[in-house]
Amino acid sequence: MLIALLPGDGIGPEVTAQAVRVLEQVAPALRFEEAPVGGAAYKAQGHPLPPETLALARRADAILFGAVGDPDCDRLERALRPEQAILGLRKELGLFANLRPAKLFAELADASALRPEVARAIDLVIIRELTGDVYFGQPRGIRRTEAGLREGYDTMRYDEAEIARIARVGFETARARAKRLCSVDKANVLETSQLWRDVVIEVAADYPDIALEHMYVDNAAMQLVRNPGQFDVIVTGNLFGDILSDQASMCVGSIGLLPSASLDSAGKGLYEPIHGSAPDIAGQGRANPLATILSAAMMLRYSLNDAAGADRIEAAVARALAAGARSHDLGGDMATEAMGDAVLAAL
Ligand code: NAD
Ligand code: IPM
Ligand code: MN
Repeated sequence: MLIALLPGDGIGPEVTAQAVRVLEQVAPALRFEEAPVGGAAYKAQGHPLPPETLALARRADAILFGAVGDPDCDRLERALRPEQAILGLRKELGLFANLRPAKLFAELADASALRPEVARAIDLVIIRELTGDVYFGQPRGIRRTEAGLREGYDTMRYDEAEIARIARVGFETARARAKRLCSVDKANVLETSQLWRDVVIEVAADYPDIALEHMYVDNAAMQLVRNPGQFDVIVTGNLFGDILSDQASMCVGSIGLLPSASLDSAGKGLYEPIHGSAPDIAGQGRANPLATILSAAMMLRYSLNDAAGADRIEAAVARALAAGARSHDLGGDMATEAMGDAVLAAL
Protein backbone atom coordinates (compact mmCIF):
# COMPACT_ATOMS: atom_id res chain seq x y z
CA MET A 1 0.00 0.00 0.00
CA LEU A 2 1.29 3.43 -1.00
CA ILE A 3 0.81 6.44 1.26
CA ALA A 4 1.21 9.93 -0.18
CA LEU A 5 2.97 11.92 2.52
CA LEU A 6 2.25 15.66 2.21
CA PRO A 7 3.75 17.42 5.28
CA GLY A 8 3.15 21.00 4.09
CA ASP A 9 4.01 24.10 6.11
CA GLY A 10 4.72 25.26 9.64
CA ILE A 11 4.17 22.47 12.15
CA GLY A 12 2.91 20.16 9.37
CA PRO A 13 6.31 18.43 8.90
CA GLU A 14 6.83 18.21 12.68
CA VAL A 15 3.55 16.43 13.39
CA THR A 16 3.53 14.17 10.32
CA ALA A 17 7.04 12.94 11.21
CA GLN A 18 5.66 11.54 14.48
CA ALA A 19 2.68 9.93 12.74
CA VAL A 20 5.04 8.22 10.28
CA ARG A 21 7.11 6.79 13.16
CA VAL A 22 3.93 5.33 14.65
CA LEU A 23 2.75 3.91 11.31
CA GLU A 24 6.15 2.33 10.63
CA GLN A 25 5.75 0.48 13.92
CA VAL A 26 2.12 -0.58 13.49
CA ALA A 27 1.93 -1.14 9.73
CA PRO A 28 5.50 -1.87 8.55
CA ALA A 29 4.39 -2.90 5.06
CA LEU A 30 3.26 0.63 4.15
CA ARG A 31 5.35 2.54 1.61
CA PHE A 32 5.59 6.33 1.85
CA GLU A 33 6.24 8.74 -0.98
CA GLU A 34 6.63 12.40 -0.02
CA ALA A 35 5.77 15.51 -2.04
CA PRO A 36 5.70 19.26 -1.35
CA VAL A 37 2.39 21.03 -0.81
CA GLY A 38 1.21 24.48 0.27
CA GLY A 39 3.62 27.37 0.81
CA ALA A 40 6.56 24.96 0.71
CA ALA A 41 5.52 23.84 -2.77
CA TYR A 42 4.93 27.42 -3.91
CA LYS A 43 8.40 28.42 -2.78
CA ALA A 44 10.05 25.38 -4.39
CA GLN A 45 7.98 25.00 -7.55
CA GLY A 46 5.82 28.11 -7.95
CA HIS A 47 2.47 26.43 -7.17
CA PRO A 48 0.87 25.27 -3.89
CA LEU A 49 -0.41 22.06 -5.49
CA PRO A 50 2.08 21.05 -8.18
CA PRO A 51 0.84 18.53 -10.78
CA GLU A 52 3.26 15.86 -9.48
CA THR A 53 1.86 16.25 -5.97
CA LEU A 54 -1.71 15.91 -7.21
CA ALA A 55 -0.72 12.91 -9.34
CA LEU A 56 0.88 11.23 -6.32
CA ALA A 57 -2.28 11.87 -4.27
CA ARG A 58 -4.37 10.25 -7.00
CA ARG A 59 -2.06 7.25 -7.34
CA ALA A 60 -1.72 6.59 -3.61
CA ASP A 61 -4.00 4.32 -1.61
CA ALA A 62 -4.34 7.05 1.02
CA ILE A 63 -2.94 10.49 1.82
CA LEU A 64 -1.40 11.66 5.08
CA PHE A 65 -1.50 15.45 5.19
CA GLY A 66 0.09 17.82 7.70
CA ALA A 67 -1.10 21.41 7.28
CA VAL A 68 -0.71 24.30 4.87
CA GLY A 69 -0.53 28.03 5.49
CA ASP A 70 2.34 30.48 5.53
CA PRO A 71 2.09 34.14 6.53
CA ASP A 72 4.63 34.99 3.78
CA CYS A 73 2.03 33.89 1.23
CA ASP A 74 -1.08 35.62 2.61
CA ARG A 75 -0.92 38.48 0.07
CA LEU A 76 -0.36 36.31 -3.00
CA GLU A 77 -3.19 36.13 -5.50
CA ARG A 78 -5.65 33.65 -4.07
CA ALA A 79 -4.99 30.87 -6.59
CA LEU A 80 -1.37 30.69 -5.41
CA ARG A 81 -2.00 30.74 -1.68
CA PRO A 82 -1.10 27.63 0.35
CA GLU A 83 -4.71 26.97 1.40
CA GLN A 84 -5.62 26.36 -2.24
CA ALA A 85 -3.62 23.13 -2.01
CA ILE A 86 -5.92 21.50 0.52
CA LEU A 87 -9.03 22.94 -1.12
CA GLY A 88 -7.79 21.68 -4.50
CA LEU A 89 -7.06 18.19 -3.18
CA ARG A 90 -10.51 17.94 -1.62
CA LYS A 91 -12.21 19.11 -4.81
CA GLU A 92 -10.06 17.21 -7.32
CA LEU A 93 -10.31 13.94 -5.41
CA GLY A 94 -14.00 14.33 -4.58
CA LEU A 95 -13.37 14.12 -0.81
CA PHE A 96 -16.83 15.34 0.15
CA ALA A 97 -17.24 13.64 3.53
CA ASN A 98 -15.15 14.99 6.38
CA LEU A 99 -15.32 13.02 9.63
CA ARG A 100 -14.11 14.92 12.68
CA PRO A 101 -14.55 12.86 15.86
CA ALA A 102 -14.20 14.48 19.29
CA LYS A 103 -14.08 12.27 22.36
CA LEU A 104 -12.74 13.14 25.76
CA PHE A 105 -9.75 11.13 26.92
CA ALA A 106 -10.68 10.61 30.57
CA GLU A 107 -7.24 11.76 31.75
CA LEU A 108 -7.69 15.10 30.00
CA ALA A 109 -10.87 16.24 31.75
CA ASP A 110 -8.83 19.00 33.38
CA ALA A 111 -7.39 20.19 30.05
CA SER A 112 -10.85 20.91 28.65
CA ALA A 113 -12.04 24.51 28.58
CA LEU A 114 -15.25 23.15 30.12
CA ARG A 115 -15.91 21.92 33.62
CA PRO A 116 -14.75 18.29 33.92
CA GLU A 117 -18.26 16.98 34.60
CA VAL A 118 -19.49 18.62 31.39
CA ALA A 119 -16.47 17.55 29.33
CA ARG A 120 -16.58 13.92 30.46
CA ALA A 121 -19.71 13.23 28.42
CA ILE A 122 -18.21 14.25 25.08
CA ASP A 123 -18.25 11.52 22.44
CA LEU A 124 -19.38 12.98 19.16
CA VAL A 125 -18.47 13.11 15.51
CA ILE A 126 -18.96 16.07 13.22
CA ILE A 127 -19.70 15.10 9.62
CA ARG A 128 -18.73 18.15 7.62
CA GLU A 129 -19.55 18.48 3.92
CA LEU A 130 -16.23 19.35 2.31
CA THR A 131 -16.53 20.15 -1.40
CA GLY A 132 -19.40 22.62 -1.59
CA ASP A 133 -21.00 25.59 0.17
CA VAL A 134 -19.68 29.14 0.22
CA TYR A 135 -16.15 27.69 -0.03
CA PHE A 136 -16.63 26.84 -3.69
CA GLY A 137 -19.76 28.70 -4.82
CA GLN A 138 -19.54 31.05 -7.80
CA PRO A 139 -19.60 33.95 -8.34
CA ARG A 140 -17.29 35.42 -5.77
CA GLY A 141 -14.95 38.34 -5.72
CA ILE A 142 -14.34 41.93 -4.75
CA ARG A 143 -15.91 44.51 -7.07
CA ARG A 144 -16.93 48.16 -7.22
CA THR A 145 -20.47 49.20 -6.52
CA GLU A 146 -22.13 51.94 -8.55
CA ALA A 147 -21.37 54.26 -5.67
CA GLY A 148 -17.70 53.42 -6.10
CA LEU A 149 -17.38 51.38 -2.93
CA ARG A 150 -15.48 48.12 -2.83
CA GLU A 151 -17.84 45.21 -2.20
CA GLY A 152 -16.88 41.64 -1.33
CA TYR A 153 -19.25 38.79 -2.20
CA ASP A 154 -19.36 35.00 -2.07
CA THR A 155 -22.04 32.52 -3.05
CA MET A 156 -23.42 30.02 -0.57
CA ARG A 157 -24.92 27.11 -2.53
CA TYR A 158 -25.73 23.42 -2.31
CA ASP A 159 -27.69 21.30 -4.75
CA GLU A 160 -29.95 18.54 -3.46
CA ALA A 161 -27.62 15.74 -4.57
CA GLU A 162 -24.73 17.20 -2.57
CA ILE A 163 -26.96 17.50 0.49
CA ALA A 164 -28.44 14.02 0.16
CA ARG A 165 -25.07 12.25 -0.11
CA ILE A 166 -23.60 13.93 2.98
CA ALA A 167 -26.89 13.37 4.85
CA ARG A 168 -26.55 9.64 4.07
CA VAL A 169 -23.03 9.64 5.53
CA GLY A 170 -24.51 11.26 8.63
CA PHE A 171 -27.31 8.71 8.96
CA GLU A 172 -24.97 5.75 8.31
CA THR A 173 -22.49 7.07 10.86
CA ALA A 174 -25.27 7.47 13.42
CA ARG A 175 -26.49 3.95 12.68
CA ALA A 176 -23.07 2.57 13.68
CA ARG A 177 -23.09 4.66 16.88
CA ALA A 178 -25.85 5.82 19.25
CA LYS A 179 -28.39 6.35 16.41
CA ARG A 180 -28.84 10.08 16.97
CA LEU A 181 -28.25 12.62 14.22
CA CYS A 182 -28.32 16.37 14.63
CA SER A 183 -28.42 18.36 11.38
CA VAL A 184 -27.05 21.87 11.87
CA ASP A 185 -28.13 24.71 9.58
CA LYS A 186 -29.37 28.30 9.51
CA ALA A 187 -32.74 27.61 7.88
CA ASN A 188 -34.35 30.51 9.74
CA VAL A 189 -32.36 32.90 7.55
CA LEU A 190 -30.68 31.18 4.59
CA GLU A 191 -32.30 29.61 1.51
CA THR A 192 -29.37 27.21 1.16
CA SER A 193 -30.12 25.99 4.67
CA GLN A 194 -33.86 25.66 3.97
CA LEU A 195 -33.07 23.27 1.11
CA TRP A 196 -30.53 21.51 3.34
CA ARG A 197 -33.19 20.90 5.98
CA ASP A 198 -35.83 19.78 3.43
CA VAL A 199 -33.46 17.27 1.83
CA VAL A 200 -32.23 15.89 5.16
CA ILE A 201 -35.87 15.26 6.11
CA GLU A 202 -36.45 13.48 2.78
CA VAL A 203 -33.40 11.24 3.26
CA ALA A 204 -34.52 10.48 6.82
CA ALA A 205 -37.36 8.38 5.39
CA ASP A 206 -34.73 5.71 4.63
CA TYR A 207 -33.48 5.76 8.23
CA PRO A 208 -36.48 5.27 10.53
CA ASP A 209 -34.18 3.82 13.19
CA ILE A 210 -32.26 7.11 13.57
CA ALA A 211 -33.52 9.91 15.80
CA LEU A 212 -33.14 13.08 13.71
CA GLU A 213 -33.03 16.55 15.18
CA HIS A 214 -32.43 19.95 13.52
CA MET A 215 -30.56 22.77 15.20
CA TYR A 216 -29.64 26.29 14.13
CA VAL A 217 -25.89 26.80 14.04
CA ASP A 218 -25.85 29.60 16.59
CA ASN A 219 -27.69 27.42 19.08
CA ALA A 220 -25.42 24.47 18.19
CA ALA A 221 -22.35 26.55 19.06
CA MET A 222 -23.94 27.36 22.40
CA GLN A 223 -25.08 23.77 23.10
CA LEU A 224 -21.59 22.49 22.31
CA VAL A 225 -20.26 24.23 25.39
CA ARG A 226 -23.43 24.02 27.52
CA ASN A 227 -24.07 20.31 27.16
CA PRO A 228 -21.88 18.63 24.53
CA GLY A 229 -22.85 15.20 25.81
CA GLN A 230 -26.22 15.57 24.06
CA PHE A 231 -24.56 15.12 20.64
CA ASP A 232 -23.86 11.82 18.92
CA VAL A 233 -23.46 12.67 15.21
CA ILE A 234 -23.65 16.19 13.82
CA VAL A 235 -24.04 16.67 10.07
CA THR A 236 -23.50 20.12 8.63
CA GLY A 237 -22.19 22.18 5.74
CA ASN A 238 -18.63 23.14 4.96
CA LEU A 239 -18.44 26.51 6.71
CA PHE A 240 -20.43 25.63 9.83
CA GLY A 241 -18.50 22.37 10.18
CA ASP A 242 -15.18 24.17 9.97
CA ILE A 243 -16.10 26.48 12.81
CA LEU A 244 -17.89 23.97 15.07
CA SER A 245 -15.03 21.48 14.85
CA ASP A 246 -12.42 23.97 16.07
CA GLN A 247 -14.79 24.75 18.93
CA ALA A 248 -15.28 21.06 19.73
CA SER A 249 -11.51 20.65 19.95
CA MET A 250 -11.23 22.95 22.96
CA CYS A 251 -14.11 21.10 24.59
CA VAL A 252 -11.89 17.99 24.70
CA GLY A 253 -8.72 19.84 25.62
CA SER A 254 -6.86 21.13 22.57
CA ILE A 255 -6.96 21.63 18.84
CA GLY A 256 -3.83 19.50 18.84
CA LEU A 257 -6.00 16.44 19.57
CA LEU A 258 -8.61 16.29 16.82
CA PRO A 259 -8.01 14.07 13.78
CA SER A 260 -9.98 13.92 10.58
CA ALA A 261 -10.75 11.74 7.59
CA SER A 262 -11.86 13.23 4.27
CA LEU A 263 -13.46 10.52 2.15
CA ASP A 264 -14.70 10.14 -1.40
CA SER A 265 -17.64 7.94 -2.35
CA ALA A 266 -15.38 4.87 -2.66
CA GLY A 267 -13.63 5.21 0.70
CA LYS A 268 -10.40 6.71 -0.60
CA GLY A 269 -9.22 9.23 1.91
CA LEU A 270 -7.03 12.09 2.97
CA TYR A 271 -6.14 12.16 6.66
CA GLU A 272 -5.11 15.30 8.50
CA PRO A 273 -5.34 16.99 11.88
CA ILE A 274 -8.08 19.63 11.96
CA HIS A 275 -5.58 22.31 12.98
CA GLY A 276 -3.45 24.44 10.68
CA SER A 277 0.22 25.19 10.27
CA ALA A 278 0.42 27.13 13.57
CA PRO A 279 3.07 29.64 12.44
CA ASP A 280 3.23 31.00 16.00
CA ILE A 281 4.85 27.81 17.31
CA ALA A 282 6.42 26.34 14.14
CA GLY A 283 10.00 25.15 14.49
CA GLN A 284 9.90 25.17 18.28
CA GLY A 285 9.03 21.55 18.98
CA ARG A 286 5.89 22.71 20.78
CA ALA A 287 3.30 21.17 18.48
CA ASN A 288 1.13 18.36 19.76
CA PRO A 289 1.37 15.48 17.24
CA LEU A 290 -1.54 13.46 18.66
CA ALA A 291 -4.13 14.82 16.21
CA THR A 292 -1.96 13.63 13.33
CA ILE A 293 -1.18 10.30 14.99
CA LEU A 294 -4.92 9.77 15.52
CA SER A 295 -5.48 10.74 11.86
CA ALA A 296 -3.07 7.95 10.92
CA ALA A 297 -5.25 5.58 12.95
CA MET A 298 -8.30 6.76 11.00
CA MET A 299 -6.36 6.08 7.80
CA LEU A 300 -5.78 2.48 8.82
CA ARG A 301 -9.45 2.09 9.72
CA TYR A 302 -11.14 3.77 6.77
CA SER A 303 -8.78 3.35 3.81
CA LEU A 304 -6.45 0.45 4.61
CA ASN A 305 -8.85 -2.05 6.14
CA ASP A 306 -6.73 -2.39 9.29
CA ALA A 307 -9.12 -1.78 12.18
CA ALA A 308 -6.83 -3.70 14.54
CA GLY A 309 -3.94 -1.35 13.74
CA ALA A 310 -6.19 1.66 14.26
CA ASP A 311 -7.32 0.29 17.63
CA ARG A 312 -3.69 -0.24 18.65
CA ILE A 313 -2.75 3.35 17.86
CA GLU A 314 -5.78 4.81 19.64
CA ALA A 315 -5.15 2.63 22.69
CA ALA A 316 -1.48 3.67 22.72
CA VAL A 317 -2.43 7.36 22.66
CA ALA A 318 -4.80 6.79 25.59
CA ARG A 319 -2.09 4.91 27.51
CA ALA A 320 0.51 7.62 26.81
CA LEU A 321 -1.89 10.25 28.17
CA ALA A 322 -2.73 8.07 31.15
CA ALA A 323 0.99 7.77 31.84
CA GLY A 324 1.19 11.57 31.97
CA ALA A 325 2.37 12.56 28.49
CA ARG A 326 1.51 16.26 28.08
CA SER A 327 2.60 18.64 25.34
CA HIS A 328 2.53 22.40 25.90
CA ASP A 329 -1.05 22.83 24.69
CA LEU A 330 -2.11 20.26 27.31
CA GLY A 331 -0.38 22.12 30.11
CA GLY A 332 2.83 20.09 30.06
CA ASP A 333 6.30 20.62 28.69
CA MET A 334 6.88 17.65 26.42
CA ALA A 335 8.24 18.35 22.96
CA THR A 336 6.64 17.06 19.77
CA GLU A 337 9.14 14.24 19.42
CA ALA A 338 8.81 13.27 23.10
CA MET A 339 5.07 12.90 22.57
CA GLY A 340 5.84 10.58 19.65
CA ASP A 341 8.24 8.66 21.88
CA ALA A 342 5.51 8.29 24.51
CA VAL A 343 3.07 6.81 21.98
CA LEU A 344 5.74 4.45 20.63
CA ALA A 345 6.57 3.36 24.17
CA ALA A 346 2.88 2.69 24.83
CA LEU A 347 2.68 0.56 21.69
P1 NAD B 1 -4.00 26.98 13.54
O1 NAD B 1 -4.84 25.79 13.75
O2 NAD B 1 -2.79 26.82 12.70
O3 NAD B 1 -3.55 27.57 14.95
C1 NAD B 1 -4.47 28.10 15.90
C2 NAD B 1 -3.83 28.09 17.29
O4 NAD B 1 -3.76 26.74 17.75
C3 NAD B 1 -2.40 28.63 17.31
O5 NAD B 1 -2.19 29.33 18.50
C4 NAD B 1 -1.55 27.38 17.28
O6 NAD B 1 -0.28 27.51 17.87
C5 NAD B 1 -2.43 26.37 18.03
N1 NAD B 1 -2.21 24.99 17.52
C6 NAD B 1 -2.64 24.49 16.35
N2 NAD B 1 -2.24 23.23 16.21
C7 NAD B 1 -1.56 22.91 17.32
C8 NAD B 1 -0.90 21.72 17.76
N3 NAD B 1 -0.86 20.59 17.03
N4 NAD B 1 -0.30 21.73 18.96
C9 NAD B 1 -0.33 22.84 19.72
N5 NAD B 1 -0.93 23.99 19.37
C10 NAD B 1 -1.54 24.03 18.17
O7 NAD B 1 -4.95 28.12 12.93
P2 NAD B 1 -4.61 29.62 12.42
O8 NAD B 1 -3.57 30.22 13.26
O9 NAD B 1 -5.90 30.27 12.27
O10 NAD B 1 -4.03 29.38 10.96
C11 NAD B 1 -2.63 29.29 10.67
C12 NAD B 1 -2.45 28.89 9.21
O11 NAD B 1 -2.91 27.55 9.02
C13 NAD B 1 -3.29 29.74 8.25
O12 NAD B 1 -2.50 29.96 7.11
C14 NAD B 1 -4.49 28.88 7.95
O13 NAD B 1 -5.05 29.17 6.70
C15 NAD B 1 -3.87 27.52 7.96
N6 NAD B 1 -4.79 26.39 8.23
C16 NAD B 1 -4.58 25.25 7.50
C17 NAD B 1 -5.34 24.12 7.76
C18 NAD B 1 -5.10 22.89 6.94
O14 NAD B 1 -4.03 22.74 6.36
N7 NAD B 1 -6.04 21.97 6.83
C19 NAD B 1 -6.28 24.13 8.80
C20 NAD B 1 -6.47 25.31 9.53
C21 NAD B 1 -5.70 26.44 9.24
C1 IPM C 1 -9.57 23.17 7.88
C2 IPM C 1 -9.00 24.50 7.46
C3 IPM C 1 -9.27 24.75 6.00
C4 IPM C 1 -10.78 24.90 5.85
C5 IPM C 1 -8.57 25.96 5.36
C6 IPM C 1 -7.09 25.95 5.58
C7 IPM C 1 -8.85 26.03 3.89
O1 IPM C 1 -9.48 25.51 8.28
O2 IPM C 1 -9.19 22.15 7.28
O3 IPM C 1 -10.36 23.11 8.83
O4 IPM C 1 -11.34 25.99 6.06
O5 IPM C 1 -11.42 23.89 5.47
MN1 MN D 1 -10.55 24.79 10.03
